[in-house]
Amino acid sequence: MTLSPDLVRIVPFEARHLPAFAVWFGALPNNAAWSEAWVRYKTLDDETYDPALMIAAEIDGEPAGFLIGNIADEKGWVRAFIVAPERRRQGLGTLLFDAVERVLRERGIAEIEVGWALPRYFLPGIDLACTPAIVFLDRRGYETTRETRVNMDVVLTGRDFDTSAAEARLREHGIEVWRARREDYDGIEALCICEGYQGWAAETAIALAMVPVPVFVACAEGRVRGFATHSLAGPVQFGPMLTAMDLRGMGVGTVLLKRCLQDWQREGIARCEIVWAGPLSFYTRTVGATVGRAFWTFHKTL
Ligand SMILES: CC(C)(COP(=O)(O)OP(=O)(O)OC[C@H]1O[C@@H](n2cnc3c(N)ncnc32)[C@H](O)[C@@H]1OP(=O)(O)O)[C@@H](O)C(=O)NCCC(=O)NCCS
Repeated sequence: MTLSPDLVRIVPFEARHLPAFAVWFGALPNNAAWSEAWVRYKTLDDETYDPALMIAAEIDGEPAGFLIGNIADEKGWVRAFIVAPERRRQGLGTLLFDAVERVLRERGIAEIEVGWALPRYFLPGIDLACTPAIVFLDRRGYETTRETRVNMDVVLTGRDFDTSAAEARLREHGIEVWRARREDYDGIEALCICEGYQGWAAETAIALAMVPVPVFVACAEGRVRGFATHSLAGPVQFGPMLTAMDLRGMGVGTVLLKRCLQDWQREGIARCEIVWAGPLSFYTRTVGATVGRAFWTFHKTL
C-alpha cells in the first residue's frame, strides 16, 4: 500500500533521529556493531552536513526513513538510505530519493553516486545481500558497473599477532614502528601524495584526532614510509593502510596491520573486517583473512 505523501513530512536529519537510524542500520547484515555514536560521526559531525540532503521522513512526528546525502566534488552522493522495516514498500524510499534528486537538480548537480563517498562513507557500496536496495536502485534508473568491492573477515580471538621479532628485524634496517601522533600527519600526507593515494590523507587526518590514535606509522630516516589505520571507516573496521613502494616485501605492512589488530584484541573484540580490501592474498597470508561481504556502487545522471 502506498502512503499518501500528505502524511509524510520530509525534515532535516537531526540528533533526535540517531537512535532509530542506528537500530535500523544495525539490523542490516553484519552491521550489528554500529552505535549511535558511529552514526553521529558519519552524519551530523560530517563537515559536508547539509540539511536539504541529509533528511528524514516522518509520519505523525515519528521517524519512518532516512537518506544521508551530500555534495562533494560537484557530485551528489547518497551514502546511506533506510526505511523503517514496518514501513517498507509504501513509497517512502521513493519520496526520500525524489526530495534529494530535486534539490540536486535545483543546485545544478547532474551526477549522483550511491552507496559510498570519501571520506566518511558508511560502507564501500551497497551490500549485495541487501536485495531490496539493489532492486530499488535499479527501478529508479541507477546503474552499476558491477565492479565489486569486498571486505575481508579476520578472527581475532585466540590468535597470536605478536610483532616483537619482526619489529626487531625492521629496526636493523633503520625502520621504527610507533602509534602515530598528530605531528606525524605531514609525513603521512607526503607518503599518500607520493604513492598516489591522496584521498587517504584526509581520512587519516580524521583518525589522528581520535583518542587513542588508531593509526600506526613506520618511519625511516625521519620520514613516514608506511601507515595503517583502524576504527576509522566503521566500528571494528580496518583500513586504509599503505607502505612506500620501495619498502614493500620487508614485512612493514604486516607489522602495521598486526599492531592494529592487537588494539582490538586488548579490547576483547572477537572479529574484525578489512574494509574495501586491497590485495586479498596479502591479508590472507599475513592474518588468515577470508573474503566477506561484497558491494556495488550505483550512479545516475539526473
Ligand atoms: C531499499 C529501501 C530503502 C526501499 O525503501 P521503500 O520505502 O521500501 O521503497 P519504495 O516503497 O519507495 O519502493 C519503490 C520501488 O522499489 C522496488 N522495491 C523496493 N523494495 C523492494 C523489494 N523488497 N523487493 C522488490 N522490489 C522492491 C519496487 O519496484 C518498488 O515499487 P513497487 O512497490 O511499486 O513495486 C528499503 O527496502 C530499506 O530500507 N532497505 C534496507 C536498507 C538498505 O539496504 N539500504 C542500503 C544500504 S545503506
